[in-house]
Parts: sequence; C-alpha cells; structure tokens
Amino acid sequence: MTRTWGIAIAAVLGTVVSEPGSARADEAMQIAYGEHLSGECTTCHRIDGTDNGIPPIIGWPADAFVAVLTSYRDGERNNAAMMSVAKSLDEQQMNALAAYFGSLKPKH
Ligand code: HEC
Repeated sequence: MTRTWGIAIAAVLGTVVSEPGSARADEAMQIAYGEHLSGECTTCHRIDGTDNGIPPIIGWPADAFVAVLTSYRDGERNNAAMMSVAKSLDEQQMNALAAYFGSLKPKH
C-alpha cells in the first residue's frame, strides 16, 4: 500500500519536478504523500488554521509535529482519539504528514 503510493506519487512528480532526486523533489514527494494521508486528520482538524474546538495543526516545524505525534503514540500525551490515530502511523507517515501540514499557511 505505502509502496504503491510512493511509486504512483513518484510517477506524477516526475512529470512536474524538474530535478528528480533533489532535496526539493523529496520534499514535494513527502508533501504529496502527506496530503494523501491527511484525509484521516481533516475530519477533525481544519486545514485553514482555525480552531473548531480541536487545535489547528498547520504551519508547525516538522520535528515538533513528529515529536507530538510520537508522544501520543507512546502515551506521554493522553487523548484517546489522537492516541489511536498516532498508533496507526509509521515514522515515514508521520514525516509525510509533518511536511504536508507544515507547508500549509493560515488563510487571512
Ligand atoms: C477524532 C478526531 C481527530 C482525528 C481524526 C485526528 N485528530 Fe489530532 N487531535 C484531536 C484532538 C481532540 C486533539 C487535542 C488533544 C489533546 O488535547 O491532547 C488533537 C491534537 C493533535 C495534535 C497536537 C495539537 C496541539 O496543539 O498540541 C496534533 C499534531 C495532531 N492532533 C495531529 C493529527 C494528525 C496528523 C491526524 C491524522 C493522522 C490527526 N491529528 C487526527 C482530534 C483528532
């Protein structure tokens, strides 16, 4: 599943990113994969950066974002919904989600 998506995304990006394998292409690929995964998050978290009772999660530095997800996964942060979400993610998926949500800016 993960691998299939990686290949599909690489195929799509190969046509739009001029330097495949470059740092920028890697980042674009992470963002595209993160966007694909984000459907699981955006039923609760809004992507316009507003708070609907659930905290907004866009524009975070990637390392802080991954650290928070890890702390839910490991039970250091205790929230039933986020603990179950975080447990379903592997490291690659957390990094991709961090890249995608981190790339979004609040709309004003
Ligand atoms: C069922 C609703 C729900 C879903 C689905 C969900 N979240 Fe959350 N998320 C929450 C709630 C509620 C909180 C606040 C929990 C708390 O108080 O610790 C939260 C907190 C967070 C935080 C910390 C925010 C902060 O300001 O400390 C991050 C990061 C986060 N979620 C990322 C994600 C990601 C990434 C996904 C998808 C993979 C996701 N969430 C899916 C409800 C959800």
